[in-house]
Amino acid sequence: MKITEYCSLARYNTFGIDVTADCMVEWASADELIALLPELKRPLLMIGSGSNLLFTGNFHGTVLHSTVDGIDVIAEQGSQITVRVGSGVKWDDFVAYAVLNGWWGIENLTGIPGEVGAAAVQNIGAYGVEVKDVIDTVQTIRLSDCTRRDFSNAECGYGYRQSIFKNELKGQYAVTHVIFRLSLTPQPKLEYGALEHEVARLGGPALANIRSAVRTIRESKLPDPAVLGNAGSFFMNPVIPAAQFERLKSEFPDVVFFPADNGMVKVSAGWLIDRAGWKGRSIGPAAVYEKQALVLVNRGGATGSDIIRLADAIIKDIEEKFGITLKTEVNYI
Ligand code: EPU
Repeated sequence: MKITEYCSLARYNTFGIDVTADCMVEWASADELIALLPELKRPLLMIGSGSNLLFTGNFHGTVLHSTVDGIDVIAEQGSQITVRVGSGVKWDDFVAYAVLNGWWGIENLTGIPGEVGAAAVQNIGAYGVEVKDVIDTVQTIRLSDCTRRDFSNAECGYGYRQSIFKNELKGQYAVTHVIFRLSLTPQPKLEYGALEHEVARLGGPALANIRSAVRTIRESKLPDPAVLGNAGSFFMNPVIPAAQFERLKSEFPDVVFFPADNGMVKVSAGWLIDRAGWKGRSIGPAAVYEKQALVLVNRGGATGSDIIRLADAIIKDIEEKFGITLKTEVNYI
């Protein structure tokens, strides 16, 4: 366990915004957290590695960061393997471990920054896979009374970048472990655009090739937060009713879209922002990334307010041009 008073959060958010927390606690086990909880200054804020956060000022409470470790096989039945992973394990370390061991299911999610606990809260997704597809159980502690609770996949209320932990139960449960169900037999998912082509170029759909191909595609579009502060996609792709989509498409025939559930249509927010002329534009030190309009970047020294000023200008412009209100994927703190 590590407790730091007046801790800089610059290295705990991938935008690199330099604010402080009154107290930062890094907890390494459920027992440690339970022992500490009654003493901690409120409010509490749980973070992973801050790859989906935007701090708008100093945080006058306690930030909790899990460093719970461990990747343990708990069962093997037929072609399935069940693995329990600590919430503080780096997400991509887990992906690397799975690929090395021949476990299928998360290879398309390689390269996503962040940690296992936050991945389960955020329902991370990329290249045709969402992490909810392989989550069996999310193990937690309730902060108000230190009780333990296991959430089955169905109880997590998963949707596109959504879970019960971001909605009804926001801020109430700390994730200690996530139990995944992965496949021991090949299950390649290569439907996403350029993936199949890149995998073929590397020699076919072996696990390691899929991981490499995803990395190559990601690197061509997404900035490395260690070099240029950012939080991946800043907005979610809006999901709109079919009738509204038909009107949009008649005015903008080249609009990029994907079918969604219940007859809804998911429109590419990157396309909307790009088409509205924002790619590469900046307001002060906050900018729209040149290669992917859905990503906002900190060109150096930006505050949370600088990023929000740019985000608000984009939201307003997209509303005026397309009649669609973008929602942020990034959480403002
Ligand atoms: N597009 C443009 N201009 C742009 C960006 C995109 O025209 O500036 C169009 C292109 O036609 C492109 C299409 O939009 O082919 C889709 O773009 P991309 O493949 O980059 O995917 P995305 O919909 O913009 C989503 C996720 C990403 C994930 C990719 C790949 C969200 C909010 N974002 O982005 O996730 O990596 O798909 O599956 O759903 C993240 O959540 O932080 C993230 C990076």
